Amino acid sequence: MTDTTRRGPKSEAPDIARAGQLPPEVPLALDATDVSVSFRSTGGRWSTVVDRVGLGFERAQVTVLLGESGSGKTVFARSITGMAPFGARVDGTAIFDNRDLLKISRRALRTIQGDRIGMVPQDPNSSLDPMRRIGGQIIETLEQHRRVDGRDAAHARMIELLTLVHIHDPERVARCYPHEVSGGMRQRIAIAIAICCDPELIVADEPSSALDASVGVRVVQLLGDLRDRLNTAILFITHDIGIAALIANQPGDRVAVMLSGRIVELGFASQVLHNAHHPYTRALIAAEPSGEVARGQLAVVPDDVRSQRYWSELIPVEPGHGVAKPLEHAEAGVA
Ligand SMILES: Nc1ncnc2c1ncn2[C@@H]1O[C@H](COP(=O)(O)OP(=O)(O)O)[C@@H](O)[C@H]1O
Ligand SMILES: [Mg+2]
Repeated sequence: MTDTTRRGPKSEAPDIARAGQLPPEVPLALDATDVSVSFRSTGGRWSTVVDRVGLGFERAQVTVLLGESGSGKTVFARSITGMAPFGARVDGTAIFDNRDLLKISRRALRTIQGDRIGMVPQDPNSSLDPMRRIGGQIIETLEQHRRVDGRDAAHARMIELLTLVHIHDPERVARCYPHEVSGGMRQRIAIAIAICCDPELIVADEPSSALDASVGVRVVQLLGDLRDRLNTAILFITHDIGIAALIANQPGDRVAVMLSGRIVELGFASQVLHNAHHPYTRALIAAEPSGEVARGQLAVVPDDVRSQRYWSELIPVEPGHGVAKPLEHAEAGVA
């Protein structure tokens, strides 16, 4: 499956995105094509959890990967950034700076991960060391990637990063241990670490789901601000349609809807969130914000909608907006 909504010389789709802002020859930050991921089950058979997914990520653009728990969002994001879970078989390509992250050595990957690709975890406690002061952890990341020269420069950059993520008393916070600050602040510190080397791409995997709703909203807004300031591409993963609308709030931002390891709808956020075509997307939207299903819970999706075999590759329904169709319709060319 290729990403029919992205721009660029390989795309056959009409030139949909933000015409006039970036010439098509400007490369994508990361270009994932036909990515499949399988795991061997206990019986020895391979089961496919990500199925021929293509998505290109452009700088200053948010791409939301939206889907219920277990649909394959995390496995996809980890796989295309060279961090596939142990035991995964990954096929396809993920081109970053003319290199395929699915093929290069671990050593080469280490120079990219945490440096040119920043990761914001779901739970900041998983990425922060509880035994070390916050400032020291940020400085260590800067030094690891050789981004600063000397202690004073490292300290100044660390304070600058904390200020950038809206921490008002950065000198004091830098001396704190992670448990001495709030969960929202810990997540903002994790974001500071993710952006410390000016990444081309930030991957944020459900960054607000471990936080209280209002704190989570501020973290999401912060990421949105940073994309403008730092000109990064953002891959933002969520199961929450309200959060998707919050982060994908600019005309070029996109939403990709994942169901059982496949993208079933992809387009600009305004198209997908306001003019959804796929029944799964519609079910997610109907469940939000004040419908029958409470925020964050799953919509009831009919079995035929879930069936992986039932849906085609994306078929354009309007410029920049592709939707998977039931196979018999797709084969008959019904758009
Ligand atoms: N290390 C693993 N080994 C085997 N199966 C896995 C592994 N990690 C994830 N999976 C399976 O892959 C599917 C997708 O998982 P995941 O990407 O975590 O979903 P999501 O992030 O959308 O909630 C799930 O069925 C999950 O059980
Ligand atoms: Mg996940």
